[in-house]
Amino acid sequence: MSNKSRIKNGAVVCAGGDYMKQQATFDPVIEARVEELLSRMTLEEKAAQMVQIPYRMVPREEALDWARKGAGSFLHVLGDDAREVQSIALSTRLGIPVLFGIDAIHGHGLNEQATIFPSQLAAACSWNPALVEEMGRVTAREVATDGLHWTFSPVLCLGRDPRWGRVDETFGEDPYLTAVLGTAIIRGYQGKRLDGNESILACAKHYIGYGEAVGGRDACDTEMTYRKLRDVFLPPFEQAIEAGCATVMTAYGSIDGTPFTASEKTLKTILRDELGFDGLVVTDWDNVNSLVERQHVAENLDEASLLAAEAGNDMIMTTTAFYDSAIRLVRTGKMPESVLDGAVKNILRVKFRMGLFEQPEKRGVPGCLGCAEHLEASRALARESIVLLKNNGVLPLAPTVKKIAVVGPNADDIRAQYGDWTYFTHPMPNPEHPPVRPYVTVLEGVRTLAEASGAEVVYARGCGVIETPEDDLDAAVEAARDCGAILLVLGDCVEQAGEFRDRADLSLSGRQEELFLRLKTLNIPIITVLVATKPLCFPRVAEGSDAVLVAFNGGMFGGLAVAEAVFGKLNPSGKLPVSVPHHTGQIPVYYNSLPGWHGGTYVDQPAESLFAFGEGFGYARFAYDNLRFDEKTLTLSVTLTNAGTVRGAETAQVYIRDLVSSVITPIKRLIAFEKATLEPGETRELRFQLKPEDFSLVLPNERRVVESGDFQLMAGTSSKDADLLSLTFRLTVTN
Ligand code: BGC
Repeated sequence: MSNKSRIKNGAVVCAGGDYMKQQATFDPVIEARVEELLSRMTLEEKAAQMVQIPYRMVPREEALDWARKGAGSFLHVLGDDAREVQSIALSTRLGIPVLFGIDAIHGHGLNEQATIFPSQLAAACSWNPALVEEMGRVTAREVATDGLHWTFSPVLCLGRDPRWGRVDETFGEDPYLTAVLGTAIIRGYQGKRLDGNESILACAKHYIGYGEAVGGRDACDTEMTYRKLRDVFLPPFEQAIEAGCATVMTAYGSIDGTPFTASEKTLKTILRDELGFDGLVVTDWDNVNSLVERQHVAENLDEASLLAAEAGNDMIMTTTAFYDSAIRLVRTGKMPESVLDGAVKNILRVKFRMGLFEQPEKRGVPGCLGCAEHLEASRALARESIVLLKNNGVLPLAPTVKKIAVVGPNADDIRAQYGDWTYFTHPMPNPEHPPVRPYVTVLEGVRTLAEASGAEVVYARGCGVIETPEDDLDAAVEAARDCGAILLVLGDCVEQAGEFRDRADLSLSGRQEELFLRLKTLNIPIITVLVATKPLCFPRVAEGSDAVLVAFNGGMFGGLAVAEAVFGKLNPSGKLPVSVPHHTGQIPVYYNSLPGWHGGTYVDQPAESLFAFGEGFGYARFAYDNLRFDEKTLTLSVTLTNAGTVRGAETAQVYIRDLVSSVITPIKRLIAFEKATLEPGETRELRFQLKPEDFSLVLPNERRVVESGDFQLMAGTSSKDADLLSLTFRLTVTN
């Protein structure tokens, strides 16, 4: 037995989460009100309180009937429709207000008047929690102004398999970055007080492991153990709950044969008992019915309802048959009424915390939808979400370039720029809604800035993301022939992403690569921009391009930010929150993998990603130096210098490796970062206060511990070894 394993159970950290925080939200007055109201509720009223009605999926009269029965919540309903539902609910015997939920995922995007932000993945490129918090605050204000209470956001799943259709909804592949940005957006949504006029409920979803579905297939089983769940996937949820996140959504998938919807261990033991969560758990869409129809662990809806309710789901999204089943189960003695009581208490507690009984409709700030201040928040985040991955000197464009070709399917396509979860992909109510201004595509941004600098712009689409009869590569080559630079905007489209839309092949689709190769024959500098929902595999294009920018789904001002970066009005400062593979067959290629042997490679592909987690630079040049660690105070410091000629922002990243541990630990793992803006020639010492948890691991018995032993600490500009300074030290855990 090694020295380590003798002391390894010595210091347990994080087990059980931070109870203090949760206790702080406990309010005896609210608890008394909950108990009093519950004591007056009939069995039917309790069952109805647990149901969430999909307003747009049922006939209007049926929806209103549910309001009369006392349904606890409705989703995807706006304006007068919502007001009608609420006024019916308030006129019922007990007058319990309805909670209205909506997918305001990157802005209140299902309302076409709202401010559309960069997708979560694009926002994550900023590595800027303050801007992400502001995105949450603005979104909350706009949702509240529509009278609604609750957004099903943020996604705290990890985007480790880019084949998955919902990678755009994640903050990328890393648990720490996800936790930092996830808690930031939750603070933004919920504000200081849930009953504030501009605060809405956040929802940490999808609990848990949804992104880890096998083969990147949306909503499938996950290959995960409980040790891994606690080590990698739980931390963002732990942090979210510590930050006071009021609601949690159950994932579609399953763990080792148990659907998460039926998992008492995740929903009760971990979430309630250990983390002290006392908010509301909502299932995902039709999860209860899935137990029968898709996962086949229940023979009928009564059985499924019993499983889901006993496991700890409080609100049942869209499976309205739960109502009859729950009543029948209690009447026939198959389910104690106390199961419903527990769930209803969790729902009512959140409604009281929201102040719904005093003010059933959120008021927000009339006139704030898409107002100048909100647009500015979106613009600021878009600017920091641009990632520069390659530049042989062509960027920023020299003033001598007097004619620029803008080419490619995503140069002037606002749908592709927005990505998923806006009124284009989830139209309500008008399915054919035209794009609503203001927004700026890449082409429009380039035109505006080129005009100011006296350059001419020619545009040719060249081809679609998906091949179409209109593809015209010849026309694009002709248009670009006498230009000084080509801005080639490639990527994917909304038909290739989202729920039910996973990809088996992440290479550039349609004729995009062919378009690049044709343009390349012109011997004109090519700046390739990827406007995409996720990392795509584009090794040949990246290699042949003179510069590469990634702009994921930048929202309203994603195109403007690209143009500003190209003309040097903006110094790019984004960093990849996700690894970019060379080839789909390399997946998984996330940076924090476990060590293996035999090189961990393929005979036909490199071991490394094409671009690594944390990569991204700008027009300044940063140097790292003098890495030191104070073992007594756990303070790591490093000196950062802007050795370039322009002001710039750099995100310094800190990684750890446990050099010998009783379980295999990742080759490196992000534990801290700081984004700093430095003037040319400026030097700054960055200090990172590490915590005992940063050194922890999870044992096979599911306990999180810190083990004594040697650790390597690294700091630098990306997760790549070559980009990191490193030191080792010995940690001694004393009991
Ligand atoms: C998605 C959730 C979403 C819900 C309501 C589900 O299919 O998985 O993320 O919040 O629908 O629209």
